[in-house]
Amino acid sequence: LPLFARSGRKARHPVSSMPGVFQLSPDEVAREAEKAHALGVPAVLLFGIPDAKDEKASGAFARNGIVQQTVRLLKKELPELIVMTDVCLCEYMSHGHCGIVSREQGGEVANDATLPLLARAALSHAEAGADVVAPSDMMDGRVGAIRQELDRRGFSGTPILSYAAKFASAYYGPFREAAESAPKFGDRRSYQMDGTNAREALREVALDIAEGADMVMVKPALAYLDVLYRVKTEFGFPTGAYAVSGEYAMMKAAAARGWIDERAVTLETLLGMRRAGADFIITYAAAEAARWLKGG
Ligand code: PBG
Ligand code: ZN
Repeated sequence: LPLFARSGRKARHPVSSMPGVFQLSPDEVAREAEKAHALGVPAVLLFGIPDAKDEKASGAFARNGIVQQTVRLLKKELPELIVMTDVCLCEYMSHGHCGIVSREQGGEVANDATLPLLARAALSHAEAGADVVAPSDMMDGRVGAIRQELDRRGFSGTPILSYAAKFASAYYGPFREAAESAPKFGDRRSYQMDGTNAREALREVALDIAEGADMVMVKPALAYLDVLYRVKTEFGFPTGAYAVSGEYAMMKAAAARGWIDERAVTLETLLGMRRAGADFIITYAAAEAARWLKGG
């Protein structure tokens, strides 16, 4: 279950394009996580919305950053819950890109200069107690850089879940509202993948596994089930699917109009991901799905 943390107390800001999803203060993240966990959801994936953004993504690796604080609280209150953290810079950058934007390179994202910042962010999450770090930036070489930093600082046991095959997708729209992370200029096509190229996804997965990823992910899920199937078949590696914000928004919108049976369609769609090879699924519908699967 993905959850969005922002500062405050007892605060729940609804995300208009994602009914049932909120930007939550840390105490409310803990409440939401506790409810989901009680229903059988084993893990949450945390995103942070910082109070201030800059051009170095300082909030991404601040010791008392929003994600770091929330992780500490969750591990204290719900030690059994698996806490995963999304590692990226876009929410913390004033320009909204996932890496450093270099003027010398004509406003392009500077891949290699970004790696140390990602490694610092991942380390700060591990220090706060994160069970799994999940880089979503799609810079080349970031899994290796994060692995090396974690190992060097005594976190060789912290696994990396790599967003290995992440496509540049229009389905991320509602998320960018939720995370306040839409790029201010340009788009993410220089670092995220091209939907016309399925074989590149296999090369990206192979690289991430070679660099030390412990689990890989295909994202989005619904429009890329063929890629998911190929990744699972080719590598036999722990593989996840991310049912992204736009997928959730479509189902909620149709269900609200009474055009589809929400429960049946949601479960059928999750089953399709499972059948295509997903060992785990990241979905905004996790708590509801867990309740339905229990017969509730
Ligand atoms: C940030 C990030 C994104 C998502 C997860 N991590 C957005 C993006 O790349 O623009 C998308 C999640 C969703 O749409 O549910 N790098
Ligand atoms: Zn990002």
